[in-house]
Amino acid sequence: MPKPVRKAVFPVAGLGTRTLPATKAVPKEMLTVVDRPLIHYAIEEAKAAGIEEFYFVTGRAKSAIEDHFDIAFELEQTLRERGHGELLDELNEWLPAAGQFAFTRQQRPLGLGHAVWCARNLVGDEPFAVMLVDDLMVGEPPCLAQMIDAYRETGGNLVAVVEVPREHVRRYGVLDVVGDDGRLARARGVVEKPEPAEAPSTLTIIGRYIIQPEIFDHLAALKPGSGNEIQLTDGLQQLISTGQPFHGLRPKARRYDCGDKLGYLEANVALGLAHPQLGAQFRRLIQSYL
Ligand code: G1P
Repeated sequence: MPKPVRKAVFPVAGLGTRTLPATKAVPKEMLTVVDRPLIHYAIEEAKAAGIEEFYFVTGRAKSAIEDHFDIAFELEQTLRERGHGELLDELNEWLPAAGQFAFTRQQRPLGLGHAVWCARNLVGDEPFAVMLVDDLMVGEPPCLAQMIDAYRETGGNLVAVVEVPREHVRRYGVLDVVGDDGRLARARGVVEKPEPAEAPSTLTIIGRYIIQPEIFDHLAALKPGSGNEIQLTDGLQQLISTGQPFHGLRPKARRYDCGDKLGYLEANVALGLAHPQLGAQFRRLIQSYL
C-alpha cells in the first residue's frame, strides 16, 4: 500500500492574464461559477478525496483568497439577526477547520514548478496532491477521489489526463506513453508544451497531480524550461528518470478550463443548468436566447 495522500497544494499565485480584465484586482481563483468561487469547488473536491491539510501558494493581490477562509464575523452576526440561518450553514460548511490550512508566498513569478517548491516545508516527506483551481472538474466520485483510488493500485506519481486534438498539445504537459488500458496510461516521460509535430502523444495533463516528495529536490535544481519558467512537468520527468512509476488516469469527469473565457462561460452554463434550485428556471432563460 503506498503512503496515503493527506495534503494538497494549491498554486494560486498566477496572474490570470487570460481572464483580464476580470482578474485585474480579483484573483482568478475567486471568479464565481454560478454561486461560489472556483477555490470553493477545489476545496470540496479535495475534502471528498480525504485531504486533511490545505496549502496555498499565493502572490500579490491574492488576499481575497485568505479572507474567504476566514469567519466573516459581521456578516454572520447580521445574517443571524435577520433570521437567515440557512445562509450561515452554506457560508461555513465547506471551510477546513482552523489549523488545517496555511498560506505561503511565491515572491517571484518563476513558474508552476517553483510555486509547488515554495510549499516544500509545509508538505514535508510525504506524497501530496497538487490542484490547479482554474481546471474545474465535475465528476462523481470527484476527480481527486478517483485518482486516489487509482493511486492505491499504482503508487508513484499520478496525473489526471485527457486526450486533445494534436494542434492543442502546445498548451499542456504531454505524456510519452508505454502502456495504456484505456483508463490508466503508464508513461516513460512527460514533456511540457511541445510542438504538435514533436509531441510524444496527444494525452495531456489536467490540473490534478499526486506527487512523491522527492520532487522538491529536483525542483530546486531545475533550470527554467518552457516559457522560461521552472516547470512542474520537468520535475516529474526527473522523478521518472530515477525510476519512479508515472501514470495518467482518464477520470470519469468533465473538465472546464476556467482560466479561459469560453471555458469559464461553459462552466457557468453547465453548472447553472445542473443547479438544484436554479437549474429549471435557468434552462428556460437560456432557451429564450436561442
Ligand atoms: C499547467 C501545466 C501543464 C498542464 C496544465 C493543465 O500549464 O504546466 O503541464 O497540462 O497546467 O491545465 P498552464 O495552464 O499553467 O500553462
